Amino acid sequence: MRPRRIKVLIADDMVELRSNVRRMLSSHDSIQVIGEAGDGEATLKLARELSPHVVLMDINMPKLDGLKVTEILAKELPNLQVIIMSIQSEQEYFRRAMKAGAKDFLTKPFSSSDLADAIHNTFNNWIKDRPDLQQEEARAEILSFFATKGGVGRTTLATNLAISLARRGKRTLLIDASFQFGDVAITLNQKAGRNIYNIVEKEEDITAGKIDANLTNHPSGLDLLLAPIEPAFADAIKPQHVKTILETLAPIYQYIIIDTAPHLGTIELQILDQTDLVLLVGTLEISSLKNTKLCLKTLNDIKYDMAKVKLVINKDIPNVGIGRKDIEEGLAIPIFAVVPMEAETAQSALNQGEPFVVKFPDSPLARALEAMTTLIVGDETPVTAPASGGALLKLRKLIFGS
Ligand SMILES: Nc1ncnc2c1ncn2[C@@H]1O[C@H](COP(=O)(O)OP(=O)(O)OP(=O)(O)O)[C@@H](O)[C@H]1O
Ligand SMILES: [Mg+2]
Repeated sequence: MRPRRIKVLIADDMVELRSNVRRMLSSHDSIQVIGEAGDGEATLKLARELSPHVVLMDINMPKLDGLKVTEILAKELPNLQVIIMSIQSEQEYFRRAMKAGAKDFLTKPFSSSDLADAIHNTFNNWIKDRPDLQQEEARAEILSFFATKGGVGRTTLATNLAISLARRGKRTLLIDASFQFGDVAITLNQKAGRNIYNIVEKEEDITAGKIDANLTNHPSGLDLLLAPIEPAFADAIKPQHVKTILETLAPIYQYIIIDTAPHLGTIELQILDQTDLVLLVGTLEISSLKNTKLCLKTLNDIKYDMAKVKLVINKDIPNVGIGRKDIEEGLAIPIFAVVPMEAETAQSALNQGEPFVVKFPDSPLARALEAMTTLIVGDETPVTAPASGGALLKLRKLIFGS
């Protein structure tokens, strides 16, 4: 199956260059930096352990130089592609790099787009000769909007992103996992009569049929799994239920978006466990930043895969005393996406029960959401007509076999 992300290892003795490269790649969702090495021997060790698709290799490194490492890797791990990064641009270096088995050569300094292009081209050249890897992974990408502080905009971003994905023809499900006070139904003007509580209330097996009967189909083509109508029912939903529901639905959808409660408990840990990309939402308020920092620390402490965590700044507004640079430095994590503060658009869309990506498509807010969708999907697919219940149809086929 075609890997969803290109796994990259950075090998360079300069710490600053490694963090610059990491930062440059952080806005490319199709690329995941899985490790860094500061010398030739460490590069060999990590390459053997982590099986990256691409190694970005400096030439002048202690212990073993980059060309020697490239030579060894080319023999030992033929599925690994090396891109040399060098200050020397002379033809001779290029020739030696290619002879050692490198697939591309970047002269320092290079731009973020040159770097991403080199990685994509190298990876695509390799994969085109691997028919076994051509098929798209037939499993939904699970994205969770997360924050340990309330009111930062998780529901707003999750609903609009999910609608935007559905309008691009992607089979998408939005789950309202804010089980006590979920707002997805009201935000999208839907009745919450059919919801997750109906799936778990009787202690019976959770089947695809049972889930299907309790999904709500939004006119955009988006499917919704709504939260219980009353907080009293929330306790009935256990981590195991969430696990089974996600496992059952993952083969049916292309994207599953999860809106969460401002909390870090067993339900949230279960969700995080099954999530491919965590969109950690923060605003430019000191209290939000404090919570985001604590949240990042907690995820680190529990050894969560931090490469999956992306920072989204919502309600961005100039001149409030905290800038983007302060955030990146203070939180030690690059910003993945920025969504502007636009109270009128956000609130009138909310009060009308219509997502702003549909109601106000030309607003800066909607454009920011569309840009985020493009980042996530990794292409420029234009907005298309609503998908006609594609996922539900597929789910029904799974249940009824026709
Ligand atoms: N980019 C934005 N610009 C202006 N207002 C926004 C923006 N994003 C969200 N809002 C507003 O902020 C408020 C809170 O948003 P939302 O309900 O999405 O947050 P939440 O994190 O889901 O909160 P909760 O903790 O209640 O689940 C809403 O009034 C919403 O309209
Ligand atoms: Mg919410």
